[in-house]
Amino acid sequence: MDYSILVNKDNPLPRASIPTDLVDAGSLYKDNIKIDRTVKEEFDKLKTLASQYGYHIDIESGYRDYDYQEKIYNHLLEEKGFSYAITRIAEPGKSEHQTGLAIDFCVYDNGKCYIEHEIEDLPVTKWIHQNAHRYGFILRYPEGKEDITKYSYEPWHLRYVGDIASYIYNHNLTLEEYKNSLLK
Ligand code: DAL
Ligand code: ZN
Repeated sequence: MDYSILVNKDNPLPRASIPTDLVDAGSLYKDNIKIDRTVKEEFDKLKTLASQYGYHIDIESGYRDYDYQEKIYNHLLEEKGFSYAITRIAEPGKSEHQTGLAIDFCVYDNGKCYIEHEIEDLPVTKWIHQNAHRYGFILRYPEGKEDITKYSYEPWHLRYVGDIASYIYNHNLTLEEYKNSLLK
Protein backbone atom coordinates (compact mmCIF):
# COMPACT_ATOMS: atom_id res chain seq x y z
CA MET A 1 0.00 0.00 0.00
CA ASP A 2 1.33 3.41 -0.98
CA TYR A 3 0.45 5.52 2.03
CA SER A 4 1.54 8.68 0.22
CA ILE A 5 -0.99 8.25 -2.61
CA LEU A 6 -2.39 11.57 -3.80
CA VAL A 7 -6.11 11.54 -4.51
CA ASN A 8 -7.67 14.87 -5.40
CA LYS A 9 -9.61 16.65 -8.14
CA ASP A 10 -6.72 16.10 -10.59
CA ASN A 11 -5.86 12.57 -9.47
CA PRO A 12 -9.05 10.48 -9.31
CA LEU A 13 -9.48 6.79 -8.57
CA PRO A 14 -11.43 4.41 -10.81
CA ARG A 15 -14.88 3.37 -9.62
CA ALA A 16 -13.58 -0.18 -9.09
CA SER A 17 -10.68 0.86 -6.83
CA ILE A 18 -11.30 -0.79 -3.46
CA PRO A 19 -8.67 -1.04 -0.68
CA THR A 20 -7.43 -4.57 -0.04
CA ASP A 21 -6.98 -4.55 3.73
CA LEU A 22 -10.01 -2.91 5.29
CA VAL A 23 -11.00 -3.70 8.86
CA ASP A 24 -13.79 -2.57 11.14
CA ALA A 25 -12.80 0.78 12.62
CA GLY A 26 -14.31 -0.12 16.01
CA SER A 27 -16.13 3.20 16.18
CA LEU A 28 -18.60 3.57 19.03
CA TYR A 29 -20.07 6.58 17.25
CA LYS A 30 -21.27 4.62 14.22
CA ASP A 31 -21.36 0.91 13.33
CA ASN A 32 -19.75 -0.66 10.29
CA ILE A 33 -17.16 1.99 9.53
CA LYS A 34 -14.20 0.42 7.74
CA ILE A 35 -10.62 1.71 7.45
CA ASP A 36 -7.23 0.35 6.41
CA ARG A 37 -5.76 -2.04 8.99
CA THR A 38 -2.61 0.02 9.64
CA VAL A 39 -4.65 3.22 9.84
CA LYS A 40 -6.78 1.65 12.56
CA GLU A 41 -3.72 0.53 14.53
CA GLU A 42 -2.16 3.99 14.38
CA PHE A 43 -5.40 5.86 15.05
CA ASP A 44 -5.99 3.66 18.11
CA LYS A 45 -2.57 4.75 19.44
CA LEU A 46 -3.44 8.41 18.83
CA LYS A 47 -6.79 7.90 20.53
CA THR A 48 -5.14 6.28 23.55
CA LEU A 49 -2.61 9.10 23.91
CA ALA A 50 -5.39 11.68 23.54
CA SER A 51 -7.37 9.97 26.31
CA GLN A 52 -4.40 10.41 28.65
CA TYR A 53 -4.89 14.16 28.20
CA GLY A 54 -8.62 13.81 28.88
CA TYR A 55 -9.54 14.05 25.20
CA HIS A 56 -11.93 11.43 23.84
CA ILE A 57 -12.17 11.05 20.11
CA ASP A 58 -13.74 8.57 17.72
CA ILE A 59 -14.24 7.94 14.02
CA GLU A 60 -17.24 9.47 12.31
CA SER A 61 -16.35 8.51 8.73
CA GLY A 62 -13.69 6.26 7.20
CA TYR A 63 -13.71 4.28 3.97
CA ARG A 64 -16.36 5.41 1.50
CA ASP A 65 -16.82 3.60 -1.78
CA TYR A 66 -17.37 5.37 -5.08
CA ASP A 67 -21.14 4.91 -5.05
CA TYR A 68 -21.57 6.21 -1.51
CA GLN A 69 -19.40 9.23 -2.30
CA GLU A 70 -21.58 9.86 -5.35
CA LYS A 71 -24.67 9.73 -3.16
CA ILE A 72 -23.41 12.25 -0.59
CA TYR A 73 -21.96 14.53 -3.25
CA ASN A 74 -25.26 14.60 -5.17
CA HIS A 75 -27.18 15.19 -1.96
CA LEU A 76 -25.09 18.24 -1.03
CA LEU A 77 -25.15 19.47 -4.61
CA GLU A 78 -28.95 19.42 -4.64
CA GLU A 79 -29.18 20.98 -1.21
CA LYS A 80 -26.57 23.75 -1.49
CA GLY A 81 -25.61 24.12 -5.15
CA PHE A 82 -22.39 23.54 -7.08
CA SER A 83 -20.07 26.23 -5.74
CA TYR A 84 -20.78 25.17 -2.14
CA ALA A 85 -20.63 21.42 -2.74
CA ILE A 86 -17.48 21.37 -4.85
CA THR A 87 -15.34 22.85 -2.05
CA ARG A 88 -16.86 20.63 0.67
CA ILE A 89 -17.33 17.14 -0.69
CA ALA A 90 -15.28 15.38 -3.33
CA GLU A 91 -16.96 14.18 -6.48
CA PRO A 92 -17.06 10.37 -6.77
CA GLY A 93 -13.59 8.95 -7.49
CA LYS A 94 -11.92 12.08 -6.17
CA SER A 95 -12.26 11.44 -2.44
CA GLU A 96 -9.37 10.04 -0.46
CA HIS A 97 -12.00 8.38 1.72
CA GLN A 98 -12.08 5.84 -1.14
CA THR A 99 -8.50 4.81 -0.23
CA GLY A 100 -9.38 3.75 3.33
CA LEU A 101 -6.62 6.10 4.55
CA ALA A 102 -8.82 9.06 5.57
CA ILE A 103 -10.62 9.53 8.86
CA ASP A 104 -13.11 12.15 9.98
CA PHE A 105 -12.81 12.27 13.76
CA CYS A 106 -15.40 13.39 16.27
CA VAL A 107 -14.97 14.56 19.87
CA TYR A 108 -16.92 13.23 22.84
CA ASP A 109 -18.37 15.49 25.47
CA ASN A 110 -20.95 14.17 27.91
CA GLY A 111 -21.67 11.12 25.76
CA LYS A 112 -22.25 13.03 22.53
CA CYS A 113 -19.65 12.96 19.77
CA TYR A 114 -19.36 16.38 18.17
CA ILE A 115 -18.48 16.56 14.48
CA GLU A 116 -17.18 18.83 11.74
CA HIS A 117 -17.38 22.56 12.50
CA GLU A 118 -18.66 21.86 16.02
CA ILE A 119 -15.11 20.86 16.99
CA GLU A 120 -13.29 23.67 15.23
CA ASP A 121 -12.37 25.76 18.27
CA LEU A 122 -11.89 23.02 20.87
CA PRO A 123 -8.50 22.53 22.59
CA VAL A 124 -8.68 18.82 21.73
CA THR A 125 -8.87 19.64 18.03
CA LYS A 126 -5.74 21.78 18.25
CA TRP A 127 -4.04 19.00 20.21
CA ILE A 128 -4.92 16.44 17.53
CA HIS A 129 -3.63 18.77 14.80
CA GLN A 130 -0.33 19.12 16.64
CA ASN A 131 0.14 15.46 17.57
CA ALA A 132 -1.46 13.35 14.83
CA HIS A 133 1.75 13.37 12.78
CA ARG A 134 3.45 11.28 15.50
CA TYR A 135 1.25 8.40 14.33
CA GLY A 136 1.45 9.10 10.61
CA PHE A 137 -1.53 11.42 10.15
CA ILE A 138 -1.73 14.89 8.61
CA LEU A 139 -4.50 17.46 8.64
CA ARG A 140 -5.34 17.19 4.98
CA TYR A 141 -7.35 20.38 4.36
CA PRO A 142 -5.77 23.06 6.54
CA GLU A 143 -6.87 26.64 6.97
CA GLY A 144 -5.02 28.99 4.59
CA LYS A 145 -4.24 26.31 2.01
CA GLU A 146 -7.65 26.24 0.34
CA ASP A 147 -6.22 27.46 -2.96
CA ILE A 148 -3.94 24.43 -3.06
CA THR A 149 -6.22 21.69 -1.71
CA LYS A 150 -9.32 23.15 -3.44
CA TYR A 151 -11.33 22.42 -0.31
CA SER A 152 -12.56 24.52 2.54
CA TYR A 153 -10.86 24.09 5.93
CA GLU A 154 -11.75 20.69 7.44
CA PRO A 155 -10.47 20.55 11.03
CA TRP A 156 -11.88 17.00 11.36
CA HIS A 157 -10.32 15.28 8.32
CA LEU A 158 -7.10 13.35 8.96
CA ARG A 159 -5.19 11.47 6.32
CA TYR A 160 -2.79 8.66 7.09
CA VAL A 161 0.44 9.12 5.11
CA GLY A 162 2.81 7.05 7.31
CA ASP A 163 6.48 8.01 7.73
CA ILE A 164 6.30 11.32 5.86
CA ALA A 165 3.71 12.82 8.22
CA SER A 166 6.17 14.55 10.55
CA TYR A 167 8.10 16.06 7.64
CA ILE A 168 4.86 17.40 6.15
CA TYR A 169 3.73 18.74 9.55
CA ASN A 170 7.07 20.36 10.40
CA HIS A 171 7.30 22.07 7.01
CA ASN A 172 3.64 23.16 7.04
CA LEU A 173 2.93 21.48 3.71
CA THR A 174 -0.12 20.00 2.07
CA LEU A 175 0.18 16.61 0.43
CA GLU A 176 0.02 18.41 -2.94
CA GLU A 177 3.01 20.59 -2.02
CA TYR A 178 4.96 17.62 -0.68
CA LYS A 179 4.38 15.56 -3.81
CA ASN A 180 5.26 18.52 -6.01
CA SER A 181 8.50 19.11 -4.14
CA LEU A 182 9.61 15.56 -5.02
CA LEU A 183 9.29 16.36 -8.72
CA LYS A 184 11.69 19.31 -8.59
N1 DAL B 1 -14.76 16.19 2.33
C1 DAL B 1 -13.67 15.58 1.60
C2 DAL B 1 -12.99 16.56 0.72
C3 DAL B 1 -14.14 14.39 0.81
O1 DAL B 1 -15.32 14.35 0.47
O2 DAL B 1 -13.33 13.55 0.51
ZN1 ZN C 1 -13.16 13.47 5.44
